[in-house]
Amino acid sequence: MDMTDQQIEHFHRHGFFFVPNPLSDEAMLEIDRRQRAVEPAWRKADWAVGFNPGACQFFLVGEPLLQAVEHPDIVNLAQRILGCEEVHVGACGLGDASKIVSADGRLQQQVHWHADGGPEVEQVSLRTALDRHDPSNAPLRVLPGTHARPREEVEEELRQIEIATGQYDEMPECLFAKHPREVEVILDPRWSLVWTPSCWHATGVKTAAGPRRAMAWNYFPPGGRKRDVETLKHVIENWEDWSDARKRLWGLIT
Ligand SMILES: [Fe+2]
Repeated sequence: MDMTDQQIEHFHRHGFFFVPNPLSDEAMLEIDRRQRAVEPAWRKADWAVGFNPGACQFFLVGEPLLQAVEHPDIVNLAQRILGCEEVHVGACGLGDASKIVSADGRLQQQVHWHADGGPEVEQVSLRTALDRHDPSNAPLRVLPGTHARPREEVEEELRQIEIATGQYDEMPECLFAKHPREVEVILDPRWSLVWTPSCWHATGVKTAAGPRRAMAWNYFPPGGRKRDVETLKHVIENWEDWSDARKRLWGLIT
């Protein structure tokens, strides 16, 4: 997979770029098949607090997803962007994140504006849709360049735009309003989004019925986040038999 200096520059300046989906059709079909197979049991299971539900589903699907994360071209891409030889996976998820976040009783199935990490957090996330995220299917919306700006500054900007919609009689807490410079990402399975979740993002409203599945994982430089290590150990029984290289990539050893 070729990546130009201009694409890396676009990542650092705007927070994202796209690559053709690096997975084969066969790999995508296998992930799709396994996701459908594990979802009913995943839904019924009572995941302990501290286990990210999306990560649980990711590890339940197992090998084809592990291999996607370990794809040498993708690891190399993360190493180049982060400018380091050693990277590890600090977070991953499978399923419909908008459904999980929207479980707080809000009126619309939609994720509000937020950033998963500030300008000091170096991370490269890969996101591939299993189902196309059309405008009616809660597409991801990113605000280019905000990964490099102070969080309070961006939040205030979004809050003022929110108040300007005229819907509030009190200071709004969750922010959803359209920003004039946001990019709505109609993610088609033929493309993968390479981005930093330190870039402010939200989703559109899900009005369409049906699935909105995506797979995502984040690479970090040494010392970076390791959110899902305990979940991995909990779901994948034979992790102790893994090679040291595999354990290192998954943050199990340093
Ligand atoms: Fe997020």
